[in-house]
Amino acid sequence: MDLSTTYLGLCLKNPLVPSSSPLGEEIDKIKALEDAGASAIVLPSLFEEQLTHETLELNYYTSYHYEWFPEALSYFPEPKEYHLGPEEYLKHIRKAKESVDIPIIASLNGVTVGGWLKIAEQIEEAGADALELNAYYLPTNPNLSGTRVEALYLDLLRAMKQRVRIPLAMKLNPYFSSTAAMAKALVEAGADGLVLFNRFYQPDFDLENLEVVPQITLSTSDDLRLPLRWVAILYSRISCSLAITSGIHTAEDAIKALMAGADVAMLCSALLRNGIAHLSTILRGIEAWMEKKEYISIGQLKGSMSQKSVEDPAAFERANYMKSLHSFREKAL
Ligand SMILES: Cc1cc2nc3c(=O)[nH]c(=O)nc-3n(C[C@H](O)[C@H](O)[C@H](O)COP(=O)(O)O)c2cc1C
Repeated sequence: MDLSTTYLGLCLKNPLVPSSSPLGEEIDKIKALEDAGASAIVLPSLFEEQLTHETLELNYYTSYHYEWFPEALSYFPEPKEYHLGPEEYLKHIRKAKESVDIPIIASLNGVTVGGWLKIAEQIEEAGADALELNAYYLPTNPNLSGTRVEALYLDLLRAMKQRVRIPLAMKLNPYFSSTAAMAKALVEAGADGLVLFNRFYQPDFDLENLEVVPQITLSTSDDLRLPLRWVAILYSRISCSLAITSGIHTAEDAIKALMAGADVAMLCSALLRNGIAHLSTILRGIEAWMEKKEYISIGQLKGSMSQKSVEDPAAFERANYMKSLHSFREKAL
């Protein structure tokens, strides 16, 4: 059985890749992930704020927050609170490359086109096989149009692309008014891959202390539906690699991701909740399912349930919404 897949031009032995998370912070854990069967690993992000914290070279996109809410800076963790600073990050890439045979994908998290982008060149020199760029940006300024927000992503990607030759993937959020057009524009701007989707963590209210508190919740399989739909829609419409992140917890989830058209299924919450060994359980589950259903390669699965392949392409669109509402009513009443 051929479990291999190609992602960002990298030949991977199977489609299971741990996404950016604290699991990639320690070399022992990276080794354990490789032993469990991971075919590549995305390291935790290095944040723009870690590189610009002192000089605050923040451009007009973000300065809005600082003008209106100068105390906003206090929300950023102090540099010492990050496990890996820039120098340590580069060392970590070198160490990871020495310690395992699987590709190492570095991750940068930031929003502005500025001096901090230089680190991308150093990341390439340190030996990273690819780079994932996560622009976790929440546009709260009512004067900032959607077009300018989109330009922020495109400018950032182009600027990063000029600095590196290794493949570059963009991790996206699902909140563009035209996700498909945005995906196409990113590919035209040079993205070698798209990672769908970033989960935005919504803050909560602490009613005792009347504070807004950060709140990370791990995903469940239900969170897979959103990227599943969009990958199924984008598959074969845009020419770049596709990864699904969000809600992959079981072998069935990973199989669905591949059938939608993803080249890789990324894992984070599932491994944080169940431990690293869960990756091999998922891998064995994929093999068992493929054997039972007589699939011989991942290539056969890939895109087989994409919008272009299914009998009813409207199942991914508005018609499905109306059908869902009706089916609920029929069941409930
Ligand atoms: C504790 C934690 C830390 C994370 N750190 C990062 C990060 O540094 N950079 C990043 O791009 N995504 C980060 N993520 C997001 C994950 O890589 C992943 O995209 C997201 O959790 C959705 O996948 P899941 O449903 O498998 O958890 C983090 C997620 C968690 C839960």
